[in-house]
Amino acid sequence: MTEMNKRISAIGVVPVIKLNHPERDAAALGKALCAGGVPVAEITFRAAGADTAIRLMKEACPDMLVGAGTVTNTAQIDAVIAAGGDFIVSPGFDPELVAYAQEKGVPIYPGCTTASEYHQALKFGLEVIKFFPAEQSGGLAKIKALSGPFPMFKVMPTGGISLKNLKEYLASPIIAACGGSYMVTAELIDSNKWDEITELCRKSVEIVKEARRPS
Ligand code: 3PG
Repeated sequence: MTEMNKRISAIGVVPVIKLNHPERDAAALGKALCAGGVPVAEITFRAAGADTAIRLMKEACPDMLVGAGTVTNTAQIDAVIAAGGDFIVSPGFDPELVAYAQEKGVPIYPGCTTASEYHQALKFGLEVIKFFPAEQSGGLAKIKALSGPFPMFKVMPTGGISLKNLKEYLASPIIAACGGSYMVTAELIDSNKWDEITELCRKSVEIVKEARRPS
């Protein structure tokens, strides 16, 4: 596995964030995540200024991995690289985006939920792919079924994952890490509930450990 994939897998959970006020919240949020043992963030382009948020979070927490989510065009990839972002996540598989990110040397995790998309990911030599929207697309059962013909991939599911089903996903050796917004909801961010975010991260890290503890 690449260094980036190893680091993300070791953390085990990736907060998926929509940040409406990067100047106000990016630094505090980064610190809250790190304090909870989750030094990684996927900041989505569902809100404008995701690149600004990435830059500010990296400045506040230089050891953190901060990537971009909901990336749908190459201009966003350029903006993320300029902001010092560590990785790119896209909701679906767009070969143009994957090729562009690889050409620029930035790790990309495109969303794949079908055998045809896995075929494409194979062509691009990817090791880890996003599986989105996980629960709505068949969840762990589908991930396991696809790993039959495609055992070379580790998967990062997002969509419908919470403290309730996190352990079930992470217990599977196919899962690199789980993404989710449950620890960084709009309500928690907008009311600056940083301690609560830290606590949800701590609980998640506990579940990562439990799920991976050898039996
Ligand atoms: C994503 O973009 O990865 C998902 O929307 C996160 O899904 P969730 O909000 O159900 O955790």
